[in-house]
Amino acid sequence: MRHFTTVSGIQNYLREQKLNHNSIGLVPTMGALHEGHSSLVKASLSENDITVTSIFINPVQFDNVEDFKRYPQTLESDLIELQKLGNTVVFIPSQQEMYPEKTILRLEFGSLQQEMEGKFREGHFNGVGIVVGKLFNIIKPDKAYFGQKDLQQYAVINQLVKDFSFDVKLRCMPILREDDGLAFSSRNQRLDAKGRTEAIILYKSLELAKDLIVEKVSIEEIIVKVQNLFGQSTVDLEYFEIVDPVSLMPIQSYNTQTNIALCIAGRVGKIRLIDNMIISK
Ligand code: PAJ
Repeated sequence: MRHFTTVSGIQNYLREQKLNHNSIGLVPTMGALHEGHSSLVKASLSENDITVTSIFINPVQFDNVEDFKRYPQTLESDLIELQKLGNTVVFIPSQQEMYPEKTILRLEFGSLQQEMEGKFREGHFNGVGIVVGKLFNIIKPDKAYFGQKDLQQYAVINQLVKDFSFDVKLRCMPILREDDGLAFSSRNQRLDAKGRTEAIILYKSLELAKDLIVEKVSIEEIIVKVQNLFGQSTVDLEYFEIVDPVSLMPIQSYNTQTNIALCIAGRVGKIRLIDNMIISK
């Protein structure tokens, strides 16, 4: 396993790889790696000659200083995990390396950021767009791997690629879950035993909504039923939205042909978790 901390270091290495016609896959992460991340790395390893995993906790995408400060950092075990997965290249830049100067550019994703994460996390997608754009320019990957876990993030990055004509193919990989259904997340590490038990309500809500859709229950009723479920829990429901999986705009009604994404965010104490489920016909 090779690792680089500077932009020039990794660029020199990758330039040589490209001259040898080696294809490059990129897996952007903020570290605290779990099985969800590993699934992206495995997909990239199987589809590319070189896999670059970046580990960078991007300050620009955090709307909450506390959340940024408390973001788990487990570099040592991350490197061990990557080593186990195979022959990967790791890019671990410092803040100074990624942002030698304060960014002036601001990215705005219109209706894609109007709801859900965009609504609840001011400036979040600007920060994601800036850092992913930088990574695309630094690494110049043939393919880049993201998780459906962050569905709105994927939609935003897809738009970024189209609007800036980045020469990269995006892959959106399925959500990996723990045995009881809780989606793997770096933030799960911060849950105490009680919080961990309670957190399952996010997945339970998605399952409940999915069953109600099969029963053709109306959108309003589904939303009320999910809200009621949270009435008995200590987890605060931040949003539960039933949206179109591509436009991410809320849908008012549906039929057997409608593709649906169920998206949810909740707070277990101070820890914010998100999840989603796509029901496609
Ligand atoms: P991070 O939260 O570390 O996630 C890195 C990638 O792993 C994202 O594409 C995310 O969707 C995917 N992922 C997270 N949990 C997953 C799960 N349970 N199953 C499958 N994939 C999962 O997302 C970010 O970092 C950052 O915003 C980043 C894109 C790196 C930009 O800073």
